[in-house]
Amino acid sequence: MKSSITFSLLLILAMSSTVCMASDNLQVGFYRQTCPSAERIVRNAVNRAVSQNPGLGAGLIRMHFHDCFVRGCDASILLDSTPGSQAEKDHPANFPSIRGYEIIDEAKAELESQCPNTVSCADIVAFAARDSASKLGGINYAVQSGRKDGTISNINDPTGNIPRPIFNLQQLEENFARKNLSLEEMVVLSGAHSIGVTHCSAFNETQPQYPSLDPTLANVLRGRCPYPAVDVNNDPTVPLDFVTPNKLDNLYYKNLQHNRALLTSDQALMATPATVQMVRNFGSQGGVWANKFANAMVHMGSIEVLTGTQGQIRRNCRVVNSY
Ligand code: HEM
Ligand SMILES: *[C@@H]1O[C@H](CO)[C@@H](O)[C@H](O)[C@H]1NC(C)=O
Ligand SMILES: *[C@@H]1O[C@H](CO)[C@@H](O)[C@H](O)[C@H]1NC(C)=O
Repeated sequence: MKSSITFSLLLILAMSSTVCMASDNLQVGFYRQTCPSAERIVRNAVNRAVSQNPGLGAGLIRMHFHDCFVRGCDASILLDSTPGSQAEKDHPANFPSIRGYEIIDEAKAELESQCPNTVSCADIVAFAARDSASKLGGINYAVQSGRKDGTISNINDPTGNIPRPIFNLQQLEENFARKNLSLEEMVVLSGAHSIGVTHCSAFNETQPQYPSLDPTLANVLRGRCPYPAVDVNNDPTVPLDFVTPNKLDNLYYKNLQHNRALLTSDQALMATPATVQMVRNFGSQGGVWANKFANAMVHMGSIEVLTGTQGQIRRNCRVVNSY
């Protein structure tokens, strides 16, 4: 009898320590017990918004990328500037181009009413990116969760962490390598530029680095972007993929092969035989690309995450908890 009690105690201890250890890693279904409707609440908010404006789905996928590349996937991108400190979201890499913040707010408000203090903003961003890929590309994957929210946001942080649209292939490869993402993952994730828009200021249809930009596309761009130069007060947006701007598909890789990429950083994928081979493969095998895209998104979603006792679960995604 006594030994069976001891045994049960040991078993309970062993089980609870397993639970503790697990909470230090991301896991699929982290909220299964604590907030079973968590992923459904986010998906509903995303579906509602993206049905009305598909561009918001592009915004949410990019938001997850920009969050993960700066201080890890900790929702630092959501924090608002305060009188004493300018936030990451106000860096030119994010402002005014990042969109979709209201969708995160809406999902968070619903989550706080259903399961207060339980679901992190960083996980909401990761779920919302997946739900956008699902809605715009039929790309479905399980999102690991259990991220905690960071407490630091600095307007200088994106510099040196977020890749710039004028980067060449080597700069892109190095930038992603610093986040433990491979060259192939960089090429795979760039396929996200199959949806959404770019401001005219991020590229230059008139520059010598585009000697071979498809002439028809170049003409269209000259008609839509101020010519010869863009100024801050007149900086329209154009689709990154003119053919299927709201469909997350592998057309991006076909565009690259026809010199139809707008950003220098996109056309840069055609700079070496190794990356050209990847572009050809993904262009001809959409299913292969979609599968790798899902895996790369999961990997990106694990960059420098805060888990367990690290960080906090913000009550309002825009503000650090004060107590
Ligand atoms: C490889 C390096 C990358 C560079 C240099 C880059 C740069 C850019 C730039 C300059 C824009 C246009 C922003 C604007 O002016 O409105 C953009 C848009 C976008 N990027 Fe990237 N990006 C990169 C990788 C990625 C990755 C890894 C993802 C996601 C997995 C991503 C997703 C997007 C999406 C979805 C848009 C459209 C956003 C919208 O319409 O709101 N990008 N990117
Ligand atoms: C990359 O991997 C190394 C070795 O596992 C790790 O120490 C480092 O923190 C990782 N960096 C990022 C950005 O995930
Ligand atoms: C576009 O061209 C202008 C004028 O040459 C240049 O100053 C600017 O850096 C270019 N921008 C990009 C994104 O290439």
